[in-house]
Amino acid sequence: MTTAKILAFAGSVRRDSWNRKVLEVAVAGAREAGAEVTVVNLNDYPMPIYDGDWHAEHGVPAAMLELRRLMMAANGLLIASPEYNASITPLLKNTIDWLSQDANGDSGRAPFEGKVGGLMGASHSAFGTIRALPHVSSILSNLGVLMLPIVAVPGVAKAFDESGAMTNERTRLTLSALGARVATTIVKLG
Ligand SMILES: Cc1cc2nc3c(=O)[nH]c(=O)nc-3n(C[C@H](O)[C@H](O)[C@H](O)COP(=O)(O)O)c2cc1C
Repeated sequence: MTTAKILAFAGSVRRDSWNRKVLEVAVAGAREAGAEVTVVNLNDYPMPIYDGDWHAEHGVPAAMLELRRLMMAANGLLIASPEYNASITPLLKNTIDWLSQDANGDSGRAPFEGKVGGLMGASHSAFGTIRALPHVSSILSNLGVLMLPIVAVPGVAKAFDESGAMTNERTRLTLSALGARVATTIVKLG
């Protein structure tokens, strides 16, 4: 039987990122469903803003190769995306732009193609990243990721209590179910 191996990261490196918090809820759901999950912080994978001249002169950044290696070892992705001006954050877009470059003789699609993708987002607003997530989902889908339905968490500042637990059980279950669905879909696809 296929083992679900999921790479998880958020499109924010802010110290108190809400998106990293909601990601952890989905990660817990994936682990409960039997997946092996590696959570990374994009702070540990610094890459310059993509520029073709820089790329031609220096090749790909070492951090891109390291993150790409983790993507290649995974058969699923869990991504939490904040919403900046109704769209993807520059950090997440830049990371995807670098990861989608050819490297080590492999196509830029190789880290994405055929992976099962679970996408969520959290923000303070009543819309809760609902304008950004379809955009992020489309980007990943175009790279060959098999995207599951998105989960947006509005009003995130009230979503956790002081102990870090989610205040709304329904929201916790929805995020947890997203993680579990990525895991079970990978196994079903074989
Ligand atoms: C440049 C910028 C643009 C933003 N635009 C939006 C937006 O369009 N919609 C929204 O809900 N929140 C917006 N926000 C607020 C973010 O959702 C909020 O900062 C959130 O906490 C970021 O996620 P994080 O906590 O994971 O870092 C914006 C924040 C920044 C810095």
